[in-house]
Amino acid sequence: MSRVEVIGDATLYLGDCRDVLQEFSPNHVITDPPYEAEAHGAGRRLLGRTAELKDARVREIEAAPLDFDALTEELRDHLCAWAAESCSGWLLAFCQAEAVSTWRAAMEAGGAKWRRAMVWIKPDSSPQLSGDRPAQGYESIAAAWCGNRGSVWNGGGKRGVFTYGKHDPGMGHGGGANEHPTQKPRLLMAELVDLFTQEGQSIADPFMGSGTTGVAAVQAGRRFFGVERDPRYFDIACRRIEQAYKQRPLFEAEPAKAPEQLGLGLGV
Ligand SMILES: C[S@@+](CC[C@H](N)C(=O)[O-])C[C@H]1O[C@@H](n2cnc3c(N)ncnc32)[C@H](O)[C@@H]1O
Repeated sequence: MSRVEVIGDATLYLGDCRDVLQEFSPNHVITDPPYEAEAHGAGRRLLGRTAELKDARVREIEAAPLDFDALTEELRDHLCAWAAESCSGWLLAFCQAEAVSTWRAAMEAGGAKWRRAMVWIKPDSSPQLSGDRPAQGYESIAAAWCGNRGSVWNGGGKRGVFTYGKHDPGMGHGGGANEHPTQKPRLLMAELVDLFTQEGQSIADPFMGSGTTGVAAVQAGRRFFGVERDPRYFDIACRRIEQAYKQRPLFEAEPAKAPEQLGLGLGV
């Protein structure tokens, strides 16, 4: 690893996740790896020609060719085998719908228990400008359980369907644009963290990009391990996760005081 940053309960590694994964045994993995070669970057040149996105900075980031490599079969298999061996909870991986069966096969081959493919619906996704097929308005999330016993989550009978715009309220289209070409909405990641993990547990994201999983994790009181190999995105992740720590509610920073400590008699 060429750099390691420790920010509160978050440890961030700059480098290739293959070189460091064996050092972690997190409770859960929640990650957004690059897509497979077939889908990686598809449509971005078309998006670059549209004036649909009003904010120039957002348009520039989202329309640029992807500057990271597609996921290889070897890396997907490596991730799944490590997670099944080292984690005690969920392995959630964003992927394209067409790759769900491949992810399922890799997760099961690694030893994890397949649970379901969920969907993130993107109401503000770009239209299909070629006009020759429907636009892609969602991404899939492959979910497998790595623990010994049966899987548990906090959602009861809730559906695995999540609807969030690509930009958090007040964050995109002029209000502090996304900083990574495939940045996930913080509110989506916060819901996944709430539903699939418990306070005090640890979450790893081996492909953290601008660190959105980490932001959601530290804001919810989870420990976080993140890896990113591009130094520009690593720096963005460090800054965002540090800001997330600073913005944690004050009551989390200081344990609640008993009434007598506050000088309030119970007046029996
Ligand atoms: C789809 S993006 C993640 C975006 C992230 N969810 C966000 O909200 O910003 C995938 C990231 O994985 C990184 N990456 C690709 N291969 C990697 C590897 N072998 N080790 C570590 N990072 C890698 C890429 O540089 C890219 O930033």
